[in-house]
This record gives sequence, structure tokens and C-alpha cells, in this order.
Amino acid sequence: MQQNTIAPGINHIGVDDTTLDLFEGQYKLEEGVSYNSYIIHDDKIAIFDTVDERKTAEWFTRLESELDGQTPAYLIVHHMEPDHASNIERLMQRYPTLTAVCTQKAVALMSRFFLADLSSRTLVVKEGDTLTLGTHTLQFIMAPMIHWPEVMMTYEQTTHTLFSADAFGKFGALSLTSDGSKGLGSIWGDTHEWACEARRYYFNIVGKYGTMVQNLLKKTAKLDIETICPLHGPVLHDNLPYFINLYNTWSAYQPESEGIFIAYCSLHGNTEKAANCLADILRKQGDVKVSISDLRRDDMAEAVEDAFRYDRLVVMAPTYDADMMPVMHDFLHHLSIKAYQNRTVGIVENGSWAPAAAKKMQEMLQGMKNITIVEPIVSIESTVKTKTLNDLQALANALLKK
Ligand code: FEO
Repeated sequence: MQQNTIAPGINHIGVDDTTLDLFEGQYKLEEGVSYNSYIIHDDKIAIFDTVDERKTAEWFTRLESELDGQTPAYLIVHHMEPDHASNIERLMQRYPTLTAVCTQKAVALMSRFFLADLSSRTLVVKEGDTLTLGTHTLQFIMAPMIHWPEVMMTYEQTTHTLFSADAFGKFGALSLTSDGSKGLGSIWGDTHEWACEARRYYFNIVGKYGTMVQNLLKKTAKLDIETICPLHGPVLHDNLPYFINLYNTWSAYQPESEGIFIAYCSLHGNTEKAANCLADILRKQGDVKVSISDLRRDDMAEAVEDAFRYDRLVVMAPTYDADMMPVMHDFLHHLSIKAYQNRTVGIVENGSWAPAAAKKMQEMLQGMKNITIVEPIVSIESTVKTKTLNDLQALANALLKK
């Protein structure tokens, strides 16, 4: 078997991007990202998705080496976001007999992204439709809003392989990351390192669409899946229930771990001091995982991830312009648009003459579903004093009682 072989006749032909700093222009990449693409060799050859514009030349070199002079019959288009779809027009021009297999919504999006009218070269598929390549048979599964409306997935029936589009994706270039024993450059993932960057990817990119992911998991539960091929990150084969269970927890908006996440910001260091005091009290008093993030400096996407990961959250911010310090507003806005819900939240404000941050944070949290605000709401009067410590102790007691 070649190193890039996933199952008989199915090869990975994706490419790594190790120099992109921001994914979607907003998510920090410490270890790059992979744009996965696959090919099935059969009587008719099918290519599964293209890659980002940045990696056009490298991908075409890989593809042509795989094709070895043969002509592909189909391009399966799972998702029209440019990190996967940028090369559709170019590929269709290079292979004039190629047919793009996709949803009706993907056809509409093609006319927005490309100058050429590709609609006459598409084969529109719906839920449950199948396409036989020879020994391989593709079954199409509609997956709208995971994470665009045109998304579909493909289940290859003979090898029990699910091509899962953005679902089960993970940040990290395959050449820079290793899931446990698999080694750098391996296309295979395992349970060792996967969850950290897969969770940051999930909540920031797919998180809003939990209901759609739940619907998808119900459909895929009826399939005998042996291998999952996502559009980013490693291919999953061993311990599949581990990955699927995590997706079930995440998409149901249930906490993955018991623990308290403290998200704070600070103007002159006093709210920061209070945040560290609260973390100390919690760690000394309770046998509970405490995670803390300085929203001014730490990765916002990681803070969003931690808020979803744990069952309890504490937000701590000074008052600023009769509202909260803007970075806290940004954090709560992120949580709101990602459908944050079902959590217990403590609130701590700071104010020197007209404290307003607690009221404003509470208003934003009340706009989210099933959020329980813990009493007492703590108001710091400029600096940490004995009263502040007593109030933080009371808040810690309430959080630990939960
Ligand atoms: Fe990896 Fe939604 O694109």
C-alpha cells in the first residue's frame, strides 16, 4: 500500500499549508492546516474536492502524478468554500469531459465564484442518490449548514468510507503535527492529540450548527463507517467511537469536561489580580479543573473553545465607557454567535465610579439559551481588598456547589 492509500483504490492527494497565519482570515494557525483532497481509482476516476488557491501548483502536481495520464470522470464537490473549491474552474478547464457532482446549491455558488458557466457540466445529486464508479459506489448524504448550505458528504459503500467535508476536521498541517504514534506527515489520526485542535476548529467554525450536526450523526449512525476522510486534518480509522462521541457531545452543546473556565480582561491589573485570586481559591478549595485566559492576549478562538469545553464559566471585566472593556464584549459576542448554551456562569465586574460591566455582561448572557447566572455577582471597587476576597470566596463556594 502506498503511504497515501486509505482503502483499496482510495488515495489521499491533499496538500499542507504551513505558512498561512490566519485561517478564514481570523483563526491563528500555529501549525498550519491541511487541505485534503482524495481520489478513487476505478473504471471511472473520481476526484474529491480541490484545494485552496495558495496550493494550486502543488496540488495539480500531486493529482497528475496520481492520474498518470488517465482522464478523471468526476469531481465530487462537497463544499464550495474557497479553501476547497478554488480550483474547480481550473480543473474543469484542464479536463473538458469532467463532470462536477454536487448539490443544486453548489451549482448556484459556482456562478458566484467562477467566470465560466459550469452548470451544464454538473450532475446534481440529492439525499441517498448513488453513483457507481466500477467496484466503488458513492452514496450522497446531504449535510446543509455543516458549514455552508450547499454541503454534502459521500459514503463509499464497498470500503465503508465517509468523506465528511468540514466535519471531523482539525487545524494542523499533517507534516507538522502528529497524532501520537503515527509520526509527522502521516495521514492517519489517533486519539492522542486530536481533540485539542479539532475542538478549536469545531466550535469556531461549525459550532453554530450543532442541530445540523446532530441530524447528520443520526443519519450516519445507520451506516457502517470504517474510515472518515475530512477536508482538514488526519484521516480517522482507529477508535472511531471516540471521535464520533466527541462530535455528539459538542454538537449537543453539552460540556465535555467538568471544570471552571475564567475569562478575564483588565485595564490596570486589578481585575487580573482578582481573576488569579479566584483561580487560587478554586484550586485550593475544590478538586476541580480550573482554566484561565487573559482575553487581551490569549487566542480568542481558544477562549471560545474552553468556554464550550467546561461546564462552568466566569467572566471578569472592568467597566469601560459605561459598558464592559471591549475585548470582553468581543468574547461574549463570539459565544453568542456560536450558540453558547447550557452552562453556569459567574460574573465579576470592576468599576471605580459607575460600575456597569456586570449589568452589560448579564444582558449579553441572558440573550443565550439556558444560561444560569451564579450568585453573588461580584463588584470590585477598583482594587482587590478584604471585601473583594470575601465576595470571590462566596462566588467560588457557589460555583463549587454546582
Ligand atoms: Fe474548510 Fe468550510 O471550509
